[in-house]
Amino acid sequence: MGVIEKFNPLKGSALSRKRDGQKAGKWGKKVAIGEINLVEVRTDAVRFGLATDVLFQLKAGKEASIFLADWKGYPILLKAYRFWQTAQASKKKNVYAPAKMEALAAKEFDILSLCFKKGMNVPTPIGRVGNYLTMRLIGDGTKPAPQLRNVYLDDPEAALDTILDQYLIMYRDAHYTHGDLSAYNILWWDDRPWIIDVPQAYKVDVYCDMMKVEALLRRDIRNVLSYFAQYRINRNIEHIVNVFLSEYIPRNLRNYRELAVEGELL
Ligand SMILES: Nc1ncnc2c1ncn2[C@@H]1O[C@H](COP(=O)(O)OP(=O)(O)O)[C@@H](O)[C@H]1O
Ligand SMILES: [Mg+2]
Repeated sequence: MGVIEKFNPLKGSALSRKRDGQKAGKWGKKVAIGEINLVEVRTDAVRFGLATDVLFQLKAGKEASIFLADWKGYPILLKAYRFWQTAQASKKKNVYAPAKMEALAAKEFDILSLCFKKGMNVPTPIGRVGNYLTMRLIGDGTKPAPQLRNVYLDDPEAALDTILDQYLIMYRDAHYTHGDLSAYNILWWDDRPWIIDVPQAYKVDVYCDMMKVEALLRRDIRNVLSYFAQYRINRNIEHIVNVFLSEYIPRNLRNYRELAVEGELL
């Protein structure tokens, strides 16, 4: 661990203690588990061949937690999908949760792979087993890259253009709307934006709901633009949405706006 542990921003793991402090025991009793989760995750990840070690937790989310892992001396990122706060979860939920978590991990891995193949700046996907996936760690090996919201940009106009170009690749070439794009899910590293966190992406294909696609694009772009307001950059959201739509709409849905109006009238 050595040098990497020294940079652990959560040293002492206050965050994981807070989140993982209580968990339903095997017989329903709450038990304090502290660092056990890290041990569990490490055991799984090593057994699954995804990592040679798991060093510490970087972030804890609602459905996923992020760990810094090691692959034969190289730092990688491990994302574990799991309900960590199982204390109050209903029995029924517990039955279905593992399948849902695995589906999310699989979806994130597949979309990440597709985006990577289409040439986007995304963390290179490495592997996925069950509810775990690994990917390139964006950052310098000891410290993960900052989220865009914590960065002050030298050339915000160019950065915004690059982010929109990146998202256009995702939409036009990978045929997905991100659905949760914001200054939280864009990392800034190597003078470039890196789009992450894609498990909720919505597929834009012949079966999709284009009204939903339009709404998701609008929301994603609005979220991105709201970060750029601090630089007094003001762009027209509708214009950007229309550029996206002009680049790709599934063939059978070209007249979706008329269809939507008809639907309302029926
Ligand atoms: N590949 C990565 N490299 C560096 N940091 C990452 C990477 N993936 C995630 N992170 C960090 O972990 C945070 C949470 O990851 P994310 O995939 O957004 O999960 P969540 O669903 O919890 O939001 C990110 O905002 C980022 O700070
Ligand atoms: Mg996120």
